[in-house]
Amino acid sequence: MKTHALVRLPGASFARAISSTAAAPDVALAQAQHAEYRQALAAAGLTVEILPADERYPDGCFVEDTAVIAGGTAVICRPGAASRRGEEATVAQFLAGRFPLARIVRPGTLEGGDVIVAADRVLVGRSARTNAAGIAQLVVALADLSGLAPPPVYAVPVAGCLHLKTAATYIGHNTVLAIATYADHPAFAGLDALAVLDEEAYAADALAVDDTIILPAGYPRTTSMLRARGFTVLPVPVSEFAKADGGVTCLSLIW
Ligand code: GLY
Repeated sequence: MKTHALVRLPGASFARAISSTAAAPDVALAQAQHAEYRQALAAAGLTVEILPADERYPDGCFVEDTAVIAGGTAVICRPGAASRRGEEATVAQFLAGRFPLARIVRPGTLEGGDVIVAADRVLVGRSARTNAAGIAQLVVALADLSGLAPPPVYAVPVAGCLHLKTAATYIGHNTVLAIATYADHPAFAGLDALAVLDEEAYAADALAVDDTIILPAGYPRTTSMLRARGFTVLPVPVSEFAKADGGVTCLSLIW
């Protein structure tokens, strides 16, 4: 059962976040949407820990990319985006004492948005942000720190989107929610794959907190599909984060 979430407030510099879109985020609206997001985390039963905005890092609110929490351990990432390196320091400071820590080091790069921790396996996107050395270091860290037999780790090539979780997320109950082109990927074999409609592709990035799913607002078919399967769905507006290629998982670390 998940009990905690860590978030970082978006600051004024969020206007300069990395983006593949032409649309500039409205910072005041992003801050209001972030407040609604925090309310959704709390409504899902989590204690929400809040880091202040750090204006040095325009993308700093996408805190998911700075660490991977799995098997009772925290692996501090080394972001692939040069402008994001350093974001992980305050997150590591926060997590130290709560978890044993390992770190991804040069030449490895790894961003948490590429890491799906499923019931029996860890799937890692090999993307523009996460390289083979980073994936290899993650495998070692999970084995060394957990003291348990590590779950198998599968590298999944990522093309056409920023992170693996842009295309697929694990929502519990042995189930993956994914865009159609990823739903039958061999790395998901043995899991139930629910495909979102092409026009609702953005909703493939869903944040599962036990049986509650925080989903971007505006995706009615995905919402209905998940409710029909018994999930409680909390839709939250995240339009300003989408403009910076971010989604609902990107905005928190949960454990
Ligand atoms: N704007 C999110 C990222 O590029 O990491």
